[in-house]
Amino acid sequence: MCGIIGVVGSDDTLATLLEGLTRLEYRGYDSAGIALVRAGETWRARTASGTESVAALKEECLRAPKGFTSGIGHTRWATHGAPEAINAHPHLDCSGNIAIIHNGIIENHTEIKEDLESRGHIFTSVTDSEVLAHLIEEFRAQGLELMEAVRQGLLVVRGAFALAAMDATEPNVIVAARRISPLVVGTAPGATYLASDVPAILDRASAFYAVNDDEIVRLGPEGFRAIDLEGAPVRLHQLSIEWDLETAEKGGHDDFMSKEINEQPNAIRSTLLDRRRKDGTITFDEMRISDDELRDVKRVCLVAAGTSYHSALIAKYAIEKWARLGVDVDISSEYRYRDPIVEVGTLVIGVSQSGETIDTIQATREAQRRGAHVVAISNIVDSSMAREADAVIYTRAGLEVSVASTKAFVAQVAALELLALRLAQLRGTLPESEIDGLFQGLNAVSAQVQAVLDRRENIELVAKELMGAHDFFFIGRHVGFPTALEGALKLKELTYLHAEGYPGGELKHGPLALIEPGVVVIAIATDPAMHEKMLSNLSEVKARGASVVAVATDDDEMIESVADFVLRVPATEPMFTPMVDVVSLQMFAYAVARGLGRNVDRPRNLAKTVTVE
Ligand code: G6P
Repeated sequence: MCGIIGVVGSDDTLATLLEGLTRLEYRGYDSAGIALVRAGETWRARTASGTESVAALKEECLRAPKGFTSGIGHTRWATHGAPEAINAHPHLDCSGNIAIIHNGIIENHTEIKEDLESRGHIFTSVTDSEVLAHLIEEFRAQGLELMEAVRQGLLVVRGAFALAAMDATEPNVIVAARRISPLVVGTAPGATYLASDVPAILDRASAFYAVNDDEIVRLGPEGFRAIDLEGAPVRLHQLSIEWDLETAEKGGHDDFMSKEINEQPNAIRSTLLDRRRKDGTITFDEMRISDDELRDVKRVCLVAAGTSYHSALIAKYAIEKWARLGVDVDISSEYRYRDPIVEVGTLVIGVSQSGETIDTIQATREAQRRGAHVVAISNIVDSSMAREADAVIYTRAGLEVSVASTKAFVAQVAALELLALRLAQLRGTLPESEIDGLFQGLNAVSAQVQAVLDRRENIELVAKELMGAHDFFFIGRHVGFPTALEGALKLKELTYLHAEGYPGGELKHGPLALIEPGVVVIAIATDPAMHEKMLSNLSEVKARGASVVAVATDDDEMIESVADFVLRVPATEPMFTPMVDVVSLQMFAYAVARGLGRNVDRPRNLAKTVTVE
């Protein structure tokens, strides 16, 4: 979850590290730190000022000595040890020559620490990570080069890591390694870079390479070489990077969230681009799975976390209805541990914006181990999940920076519904004319999303009216239910207010007991087939004093009889409504959060990519 950056051979080391950390802040912002290393000297600065940590670090670095050409930097999201400066990375060994940064968790750190302490090592933090510095120190003392010392150290540790180590007695070298937590290497003439995420080094390096699990890389000014845990040389996979730095900037918006909400028509449009051949066949160029294999699918299981789980829930409705295949949807952290049944013909779809969420990666690995075909739906090209899966479909939403996901969600729904149509096409469960109509409908969604974006003022007015409320229930039926879950998640992530999503039919089974004046009920009422039932749900909560907000279509004349406020959206095919309806809920959550003065891009306690369990 933490952000990592490193550089060797640069005459602009300090700026490279600090700019990189600024771009990585969203990964973890409890504290930040850098170490500059040259022959016989290690200079370190660390700050723990919450979301201002990188800004505070920049101040600290004004007194950094000049002339360093190599260094490492880190933004931390605390797992072991409080978010305090002593626990911030880089951590040093006893001599002060070795500096390490680490993302992940060293599971056996307690026993390693006890052993090292018994041999005289003095620890200065309460992190699991510090053991790495002292372990490497031990192996260096045996005369091993840094790369070999790191390799030996990794044979001792259990857990997850992306780490980088430097040693002032072996200057101009960074040794980095990865197990589970992401890591990329970048090269440019005369300098070599390292980062947990490409954007951190995008404007510095010209070629990018992914480090795979259990690979160790030695970076020098002239380039890099890599080995595996046994010490055998390995080649790193070169990544195709499509983004420029501008896409990572806010593009004139106050924050990334607003930019990303507004990019949704494009996210959907791009995800659907070139997906249908002239003869009508739906096609995914990047998919590495044959039509025969897809045709043979007997059951589908989707695994995902957070917002991606909600798009997976929507996919269940589409795949079952159109392709007539049974679908299970699992939260990835649950799938891993419940001894899942994977029969011949099971297709497992891992849905993940980042393609790096540890639980989702482990869930898809578990599925593969049990013989399933795995398709990854990833927004990041060449993400770990995309590389490991048997097949991949990329959502082309572009770089999503804001911690709470928006545009990646609508792009996931578009991609998954397209896959549902492809399955239907292969299985012959829908007539071609119907597939054609649905495909046209899907292509119209981006314009409908734009129409919702254009109604910002009304959404802001409703948000203003409800600013003082503390309890929100979101209700929906059919695909409106996952939409309600996502609306509630957005509100709680952005505002820290209590919000829950429920199927409309479940109201009477508990939540109704909580309805009283002051409570807000937000209903997704855009599906004609569910409309009457939703109206009676709303009458029930209104009679008990709730304030009622309804997301309703432009032509809905009934809704005002039960709703205090209406968020109007254009009507669309029921299966596509989540992509349209969610936008008004995102904008509502955003407006309430801004009104409450929240940091919408970086909600407290949350991280963009959860790479620890
Ligand atoms: C974190 C993020 C969410 C995201 C979830 C799953 O919780 O804050 O926005 O939905 O992880 O991430 P993924 O990258 O797997 O979609």
